[in-house]
Amino acid sequence: MPKVFVTRKIPDAGIRMLEQKGYAVAVSAKDGVLTKDELGQELQGKQYDALLSLLTDKIDGAILDAAGAQLKIVANYAVGYDNFALADFKQRNIYATNTPDVLTNTVAEHAFGLILSIAQRIAEGDRFTRAGKYHGWQPMLLLGNDLYKKTLGILGLGRIGSRVAHHGSRGFDMPVIYYDVRRNEAFEKEYNATFMATPEELLARADFVSVHVPLLPTTHHLMNAERLGMMKKTAYLINTSRGPIIDEAALVEALRTKVIRGAALDVFEKEPDLAPGLAELENVVLTPHTASATEETRAAMSEVAARNIIEALEGRVPPNALS
Ligand code: DGY
Repeated sequence: MPKVFVTRKIPDAGIRMLEQKGYAVAVSAKDGVLTKDELGQELQGKQYDALLSLLTDKIDGAILDAAGAQLKIVANYAVGYDNFALADFKQRNIYATNTPDVLTNTVAEHAFGLILSIAQRIAEGDRFTRAGKYHGWQPMLLLGNDLYKKTLGILGLGRIGSRVAHHGSRGFDMPVIYYDVRRNEAFEKEYNATFMATPEELLARADFVSVHVPLLPTTHHLMNAERLGMMKKTAYLINTSRGPIIDEAALVEALRTKVIRGAALDVFEKEPDLAPGLAELENVVLTPHTASATEETRAAMSEVAARNIIEALEGRVPPNALS
């Protein structure tokens, strides 16, 4: 009977699919992230055929070797897979998979929630009201900014970036500009969008910069002090991708000194820690890496991860194979 190890409790849907196949499924008993040593110990000598991992699990050659030669697949419960050392998977002929598509809408909705929240000062207004500071309507209280006709800059036009662009263009009449390593003329036509040849050009023109590039050596600190300085003073930065794409200390400084107007972040450079000073700023909205956290989407991610495992264990190429 094939054996599967799940590194932390996830929605039941996928677990049920695996159990219905007759697999023996073990879910980590720890209500927290397993350290690398703990994960290695969990796997050592247990002969698991498949591992269902989270984005907080670093999976490299040492972990794959601890699992043993029978391991066929590691299915990540995330679309991002910067936690995988893919070369190590390839070397050992082990499938790595992710969960694209099912979370596109949810993350794009969250990104838009962040855009609205920072521009219309919704989270700040909530804090203000709860603190008992609201003593009656005032003409100058908590003035924010409209989205209507403001330029939306998409850094990275993948599935999620395109969906955020769709919401901005169709929902709020925002002109869309984008930067990506690949130009997409069909997208330009559909949304009357403009391709920027460099990130710098986009930063100089956008009123809202929404980050959707994957974390790679080339995108680490893509938003550093210099590039933050290229943004409009009135602009907002939104990140639902991966924290290390922004130099968070530089962002704190830029927000404090009003180099840009505000930021809204779902991801952080050293999760779960925040850069010193970030949480004290009023001109930021922060959410705890929950952009994909709806009941529907997390259940769907669980099913996609399970489907990838089933396909691999039944001898087929899993639909979301990365290696
Ligand atoms: C992912 O799947 O990569 C997201 O960051 C989860 O929210």
